[in-house]
Amino acid sequence: MRKLFRNLFLSFIMVISYSLSGISVTNGTDLPHFPAGKFTRGTRTVQIGGVTRKVTYRSYLHIPYVSKPVDSAYQSMNVWVPDSIDGRAVDAANAPILLEIGVGGYLAVNNSVSHSADEKAGLALSSGYVVVYPGCRGRDNRFPDGTYFGKAPAAIADLKAAVRYIRYNKGILPGNTEWIISVGCSAGGALSALLGTSGNNHLFDNYLDQIGAADESDNIFAAACYSPITDLEHADMAYEWMFGKIPGRSGIADQKLSEELKNDFLHYQLSLNLDGINHFGIINANNYQNYLLMFYLIPSANEYLSRLTDDERQNYLANNKWITWENENSSFAFNDYVNHVGRMKGLPAFDDFNKQQPEPSLFGNSHTDARHFTAFSLQYSTSNSSAKPEKEVTGLVNMMNALYFTQNGLGSCAPHWWLRNGSSDNHTSQTVMINLATRLQNLGRDVNVKLFWDGGHCADYDQEGFIKWIGLITGYCIQ
Ligand code: DHB
Repeated sequence: MRKLFRNLFLSFIMVISYSLSGISVTNGTDLPHFPAGKFTRGTRTVQIGGVTRKVTYRSYLHIPYVSKPVDSAYQSMNVWVPDSIDGRAVDAANAPILLEIGVGGYLAVNNSVSHSADEKAGLALSSGYVVVYPGCRGRDNRFPDGTYFGKAPAAIADLKAAVRYIRYNKGILPGNTEWIISVGCSAGGALSALLGTSGNNHLFDNYLDQIGAADESDNIFAAACYSPITDLEHADMAYEWMFGKIPGRSGIADQKLSEELKNDFLHYQLSLNLDGINHFGIINANNYQNYLLMFYLIPSANEYLSRLTDDERQNYLANNKWITWENENSSFAFNDYVNHVGRMKGLPAFDDFNKQQPEPSLFGNSHTDARHFTAFSLQYSTSNSSAKPEKEVTGLVNMMNALYFTQNGLGSCAPHWWLRNGSSDNHTSQTVMINLATRLQNLGRDVNVKLFWDGGHCADYDQEGFIKWIGLITGYCIQ
């Protein structure tokens, strides 16, 4: 009895001192820990490195990762932990943790729909890594009364909460919490990049408190981003820089507006002050075509063409007369390459005047599905040449932009990066990912970046390469 009173007294003192110090007592403390003993088992056969491996793994499904979820169908995660590979027991206590982001189109990921480990997860498990698959809110989430609950920055707040939950369970959830590696494609690639650049930034504190995220660090070790749809407020200008002269499905875009956006890109690109690799100098709107050709497009085409058989190559070149192949080297003009890719989106490509694209909807609020987020589109649609997005919207736009957080001291930026895009992706300009890559290179980060030749949106022709890279950056090997 005396002990009970003593404990009650101590708890009382703790609550008082926490309240006085301004630290929320509920934050994290009533968040259940990872239920390490409650799992089912699964088996998967995986082709890796030319061999077949049979991996047995533990499945933990629908584990809530915040204490005050808005909807736990979204704010919960699946965790897969390898148990044995080809009958040999593996201990994943110190393994890298792959955080797989399943977001597409900035839509919500519902974690209550049963998920089994996908191909990438299978490869990771068969290399001894732990895989975490978090659900998260998205722009389509609505309460029964019709109000929205997943507009920006809900998705990134949730993913940060998932990272914090992993750390909160250090020693309980298997894996090395200092080796969290996020991966996603498109909107998921943008969110992966955002996790990578915005670690522990205070802009997110209130959002994380509101959902009862664990009071832990949310920085990560590495970010892998496939076709990241990021830098949204500059994506319209970048799109016109690349595709402005190419007819889309509904013909050529309004050339006056296209030129205006392109001109905005010129100023924007200069303002980034990005130093190209191999002493290229500062990348600007005029030399960017050459920069892409020299360091990304031609090497990508060369790799592709050199791997073909002579017959296949001849055939390919006969169908693509705009490419010349001499001495194991391709050459082509940027405009021919862009013609080959073609324009997919209208003008403006992201903040479209009718607010039908995913992005205006991402920046809606609880009562509004979609809002303009660029001065250009706002001015055009209101016919008010001095209209500007509200401060609140601009704040949200920054919070969704990985590049924003690469400015000095704004966030804890991951040391390792894996960036991939298809050379034929026309969902956004090639400059978007390459600007991110170059900024990270300028910041001294380890950046592994390339284009998959003729690959489209989210192309991934080297899944095994990515899994191997995780081994390289962590030094982790189960063999
Ligand atoms: C995605 C694709 C887009 O073209 C876009 O604007 C936003 C997201 C996607 O595939 O996730």
